[in-house]
Amino acid sequence: MAEISVQPVGHACGARVTGVDLARPVSPTDLAAIRKAWADHLVLVFPGQRLDPKSLVMFTRNFGELDDYATQPFNRHPEMNEVFLLSNKKKDGKPFPTYNSGQNWHTDLSYTVRPAKGTAVYCMEKPSVGGDTMFANMYLAYERLSPKMQAFLDGLEAVHDASLIEGLDKRGPEIANEFRRLNPPVVHPAVRVHPDSGKKALYINERVRTFLGLSEAESKPIVKFLCEHSVQPRHVYRHYWNLGDLVMWDNRCLVHLAVGDYDPAEIRHMIRTSGMGDYYGRYLDPEQTESKTPKVLQKAVASLHD
Ligand SMILES: [Fe+2]
Repeated sequence: MAEISVQPVGHACGARVTGVDLARPVSPTDLAAIRKAWADHLVLVFPGQRLDPKSLVMFTRNFGELDDYATQPFNRHPEMNEVFLLSNKKKDGKPFPTYNSGQNWHTDLSYTVRPAKGTAVYCMEKPSVGGDTMFANMYLAYERLSPKMQAFLDGLEAVHDASLIEGLDKRGPEIANEFRRLNPPVVHPAVRVHPDSGKKALYINERVRTFLGLSEAESKPIVKFLCEHSVQPRHVYRHYWNLGDLVMWDNRCLVHLAVGDYDPAEIRHMIRTSGMGDYYGRYLDPEQTESKTPKVLQKAVASLHD
């Protein structure tokens, strides 16, 4: 195979990486090149790969521990907890619960106390047209605010609420209620410092309900402004999927959206892994950890206080 090569595909973010076969063990030299490209471009597209759930897990483990999706067990691959299915295929006669996932601007798992550091999605089946994914650079979103607004946001914390996931209730009451039970509202800083780059990125998206210390009425227009500001076209890379694309992105400095503009009769089937990020958030309800949190999360949160 040719030497690894990185070509930018967007100015705000996005690069195409060729000359590496991700189904085989990746050499330390190539891994170092991929890490550097990821830090520089935030979204990496590896076209023409031939992956399955096992090889996806194998490759993405190079970047750290993978989430086991205990926060949404109904969306997992039946045999591999680390693999999440993004699919509109039918399951028990109904569309799979993720058939409408990701259709508002968000960063993965920000409604949990340990949001995903990165996400990797591999395209196995796609509609003939539509179903793109858009990414917006949240470093730029922060940098392009006025210094006064930056200072205001630097001191704020935001409440992320899984109830604001677009289309959650359309997945049926059983799934929606269980989703909410497993994912009570959490608090994150409005601006976060990326642990690798040391740069500040805006950490606000359409799943933010309110800011701590501000009323919902006060918060709403600010959230709306920040979301619109963040996703203006000059901050965005739009990915047109091809079969065999593996796309990985950094959730700590991007938001993204799955465009739901395709024929629902056509199949869109992707497999996904998420890298565990830092513990960045806390539950809004301080009682949550002791009383209502699923055991797996209780354990995780308890380890924070060791
Ligand atoms: Fe997502």
